[in-house]
Amino acid sequence: MQSIKSYINDNKDRFLNELIDLLKIPSISADSAYKSDVLKTADAIKISLEKAGCDHVEIYETEGYPIVYGEKIIDKNLPTILVYGHYDVQPPDPLDLWNSPPFDPIIQKTELHPEGAIFARGACDDKGQMYMHVKAMEYMTTNNELPCNVKFMIEGEEEVGSVNLAKFVKANREKLVNDVILISDTGMIAPDVPSITTGLRGLSYVEVEVTGPNRDLHSGLYGGAVANPINVLTKMIASLHDENNHITIPGFYDKVEELSDAERAEMAKAPFSLDAYKKSLDIDAVYGEAGYSTNERNSIRPTLDVNGIWGGYTGEGAKTVIASKAYAKISMRLVPHQEWEEITELFKTHFESIAPEGVKVKVTPHHGGQGYVTPIDSVGYKAASKAYEQTFGKTPIPQRSGGSIPIVSLFEEELKSKTILMGFGLDSDAIHSPNEHFGVWNYLKGIETIPWFYKYFTELSK
Ligand code: BES
Ligand code: MN
Ligand code: MN
Repeated sequence: MQSIKSYINDNKDRFLNELIDLLKIPSISADSAYKSDVLKTADAIKISLEKAGCDHVEIYETEGYPIVYGEKIIDKNLPTILVYGHYDVQPPDPLDLWNSPPFDPIIQKTELHPEGAIFARGACDDKGQMYMHVKAMEYMTTNNELPCNVKFMIEGEEEVGSVNLAKFVKANREKLVNDVILISDTGMIAPDVPSITTGLRGLSYVEVEVTGPNRDLHSGLYGGAVANPINVLTKMIASLHDENNHITIPGFYDKVEELSDAERAEMAKAPFSLDAYKKSLDIDAVYGEAGYSTNERNSIRPTLDVNGIWGGYTGEGAKTVIASKAYAKISMRLVPHQEWEEITELFKTHFESIAPEGVKVKVTPHHGGQGYVTPIDSVGYKAASKAYEQTFGKTPIPQRSGGSIPIVSLFEEELKSKTILMGFGLDSDAIHSPNEHFGVWNYLKGIETIPWFYKYFTELSK
């Protein structure tokens, strides 16, 4: 039997090339022009799961993109790990900001990735991290090292809200029965500071439309005499934060969990350099809610951000016009206990109430989801912690993330099991941005760490 380390050493070129092949398929779930590529990716995942030793690998059709499911049940009395990941990716735009084409992966060294990083859309989020599990499975099955049962559920609609996965989970509770859910779709603090994600934020996403006059108007003839929807919209948006950067929507903070001083002190122990943070973003100051640190602002506190705003004339030169309509897309990141549907309602009621006379306001909810926190005394967390100790030589730090994987809270609700988030990406890996990448070292370290989780989870479950 071969150790995982030497197995990786012998196979690393193949592991990289297989991932590169997967990254070449533009599985953009948001854009229907890529439908056949998304479907092709599902087929590729199916084949890879079969090759890795899964039995009964099947593609489950949904109203949207399919779910790839595979399992290996070795003994009903042993624990079962359910691995979740996603094979869809975000759109790559703006394309001109990429240094190399997003679906033509290349490996290049960076300051934070001296051993090279794979540059491609989906490299880190989530094809690279999902594929670590497939390769870890391959190791365990080919070396007789699989200590428990495993189920894989890889979806193609995470980046567009997992609506059909939610239906699939509700309809297949028996099939998906498990003792722990394992996901690599988050990050860690640094290569020498391993961390386990213990929290995710929830999300409420809305679109707003402000309508003024029934048509675009000459800004000289009508300017000053009628409400300008863009002026009004920006004023309304500006009023959503007060001078302390608190959100002004009545009731917004009612259910927000306030951390104790002890919990906040614990959080503050995580290594963090504000100077390096500012430098990496080319900003001279950070910005946010008064009374909270940067790490608190982007993890344990809820936020409201405009994601896009448009209206009026944005072409070349100048056009003197008052547009009839103005629009914005707004997201709110939520923390545990805030109910996303309730927050969406609070937003809608408030936003409509602050509209001045002379305009009409329409609020259209998009998707959303609940936040998540997982305890650090569960068998799953302890097993993960031991696995990192084994491969990083250090105890990982529990860390709440600012990102969202809304399906995780539904997993707990429907399947009654805890999720362990073992992420190996770095914040600087530019997920959702141009030049997304995933460190080769991180990829291989993930493959190395995962089998230890299986081993310790099985042992600690006895
Ligand atoms: N993998 C990310 C979420 C993530 C990244 C969590 C890093 C923690 C650390 C996921 O694919 C994602 O992008 N989620 C979306 C929400 C979804 C409903 C589109 C997000 O967080 O914006
Ligand atoms: Mn993801
Ligand atoms: Mn994503």
